Amino acid sequence: MSHHDERTFVMVKPDGVQRGLIGEIVSRFEDRGLKLVGGKLMRIDEELAHEHYGEHADKPFFDGLVEFITSGPVFAMVWEGADATRQVRSMVGETDPAESAPGTIRGDFGLDLGHNVIHASDHEDEGANEREIGLFFDEDELADYDLDTAAWVYEDAEH
Ligand code: RTP
Ligand code: MG
Repeated sequence: MSHHDERTFVMVKPDGVQRGLIGEIVSRFEDRGLKLVGGKLMRIDEELAHEHYGEHADKPFFDGLVEFITSGPVFAMVWEGADATRQVRSMVGETDPAESAPGTIRGDFGLDLGHNVIHASDHEDEGANEREIGLFFDEDELADYDLDTAAWVYEDAEH
């Protein structure tokens, strides 16, 4: 392990999939220098939705959130890199797209809190990244490889 190996869970939500934003979103993380180690188009069932969003079970928006996230396929991903969880969250923007800065994913592609295009693990929730990766991926679905560009992204990586 090196400090470049932090993994985070990211998911294009059903609205983002339907709107054809998978490629655009993948490109942003590739362009940043992050390494894609897992990705799949899948449908979230009721049980997984409850596990994934369990922290919100008591909130008034919970039923609507579960209905939305199970309404169509999502594109689930694992990205790896230095400080990946926090860096990805800053690229995603605020929870509400209307409050998100232009240049962020939600700030560029959304207008509505309930349809905010993307999920990413919360860096302020210790261990949320690995917990969510475990919910969505088996270890053998994650690719173990070196990215040749790492030596150009990181000053301390070797050619
Ligand atoms: P996410 O988990 O989906 O990446 O979003 P987040 O961390 O930015 O926000 P979080 O507080 O975890 O909320 C999860 C999702 O619930 C919906 N929400 N609705 N009506 C409301 O007040 C409300 N608050 C949150 C959002 O779609 C949010 O992404
Ligand atoms: Mg959250």
